[in-house]
Amino acid sequence: MEVIKSVNLLKERTEQIRQSGRQIGFVPTMGYLHEGHQALMENARKANDVLVVSIFVNPLQFGQGEDFDTYPRDEQRDKQLAEDHKVDILFLPDVEEMYPNKPVIEMKVACRVDVLCGRSRNGHFDGVVTVLTKLFHLVQPHRVYFGLKDAQQAAVVDALVKDLNFPLEVVPVSTVREEDGLAKSSRNVYLSKEERLEAKEIYQALQLGRQLVIDGEKNPDTVVKEVEDFINKHTHGKIDYVEMLTFPELTTFDLVTGQVILAVAVQFEKARLIDNVIFDQNGHISERL
Ligand code: PAJ
Repeated sequence: MEVIKSVNLLKERTEQIRQSGRQIGFVPTMGYLHEGHQALMENARKANDVLVVSIFVNPLQFGQGEDFDTYPRDEQRDKQLAEDHKVDILFLPDVEEMYPNKPVIEMKVACRVDVLCGRSRNGHFDGVVTVLTKLFHLVQPHRVYFGLKDAQQAAVVDALVKDLNFPLEVVPVSTVREEDGLAKSSRNVYLSKEERLEAKEIYQALQLGRQLVIDGEKNPDTVVKEVEDFINKHTHGKIDYVEMLTFPELTTFDLVTGQVILAVAVQFEKARLIDNVIFDQNGHISERL
């Protein structure tokens, strides 16, 4: 595995790879790698000749008062994990390398961000698309892999790639969960013991919502209300949102007819957990972009 910290060196290497006709799969991450990230790497490893992974905690996507400084980091462990997953190039730039001067160009996401996490995390997705645009240009991947754990991010990246004609394919990957259903996340380490026990109820609430649709409920307001009641009854977390929207457009609707997302965010003392399920009008899991 080659560890690269320099933008110029990365460009040189990916250019060589492209010219040799090999296909590049790319997994962008912020590190502290867990089984969710590993699933993306495994998918990318299988479908491409060369696997590039980036680890960069992107300051642009953290708002004031968010956890940029305390975001969990463990470079040594991440390097070992990447090596174990047969990563060819691990890109590990520092902030100076990615943003050497104050940006002249700012990107703004116009749709798909006035709901879910975008509503409370003002500017977050602007920061995400900015760093991804830079990374896509540097890595020049044929395929990029995104987890549906962050379904709104996948929907925004899908729009970024289509709107700006990036010559690459966005591959969505199903959420990887703990045995009790809790979605794997770097932020789960912030949970206290009691909160960790309660956190599994979030997935149970989502399953309850999906079951209502399977049983014939088509009104999103009814489903949302039942999910909220369940979370309030079974956890001490504070609900940030429970929303049901079309996917990947992320618009409201009156009756379930096509592919929809049921998504929640719950604030515990130190951790804000998000999770979702994506399904069709019959409640069958369906995860297309
Ligand atoms: P990060 O939170 O490190 O996540 C990197 C990728 O791993 C994302 O595509 C995310 O959806 C995926 N992922 C995280 N947990 C997962 C799980 N339990 N199952 C499946 N996939 C999971 O998302 C970011 O970093 C950043 O915003 C980034 C895209 C790197 C831009 O800075």
